[in-house]
Amino acid sequence: MAGLPIFGKLPAGTQPEYLHPAYRSSVKRAPTLPLVVLPHTLSERSGPVFGRGAIGANDHDLTAQHAGAPLGERIVVSGRVLDESGKPIRAAVIEVWQANAAGRCLHKMDQNNAPIDPNFSGCGRMLTEAEGRYKFFSIKPGAYPWGNHENAWRPAHIHFSIFGDGLLSRLVTQMYFPGDPLLAYDPIYNCIADERAKQRLVSTFDWESTLPEFALGYRFDIVLRGHEATPMEK
Ligand SMILES: [Fe+2]
Repeated sequence: MAGLPIFGKLPAGTQPEYLHPAYRSSVKRAPTLPLVVLPHTLSERSGPVFGRGAIGANDHDLTAQHAGAPLGERIVVSGRVLDESGKPIRAAVIEVWQANAAGRCLHKMDQNNAPIDPNFSGCGRMLTEAEGRYKFFSIKPGAYPWGNHENAWRPAHIHFSIFGDGLLSRLVTQMYFPGDPLLAYDPIYNCIADERAKQRLVSTFDWESTLPEFALGYRFDIVLRGHEATPMEK
């Protein structure tokens, strides 16, 4: 197993707590017994390798998956996927899903009465390239209400799943937008104790990737392990 990663423990408070009573669903699903530490074998330290065939031509462009253009503010999101030593993770599959500009997800469980956009499915996928880079086009998702507590609203966010070499199973996280006033009230964002770790979930506005007369650029780097690891959902 030479050359394969060895996973250490993450610093306390930098990942979401299993039990965070303000986030109601965590009460039912949090473990009630102490966790069992399993030794890492080859299957934990290696992972699947994906090829280009897994990705469709418009999978990285959520604004071009239907006959017309979706409503909303166009964005281009880019960044890098790195391991704990700053080494880029190439050929990882990134999948993204999000609400439309009105805050409605295309899912039968979404009972928000905001309109569906017939030109927006809200799902995309791409492979990381050289230096672990990824990029996709979308529209800025709207905030949406949810039933966690009275007058509960999720801040605008994009869900990410990352799967590839060196990953036992896919990693799932959420990207937020800078300056969103709803972050302070969101139990999902706030179930991470460490302030710097929370900030790693907030993208930064990026002039460099902003496209003239087309889309605003946001940058979101993902670190898979180590002291600077991006918080991931359990
Ligand atoms: Fe969501």
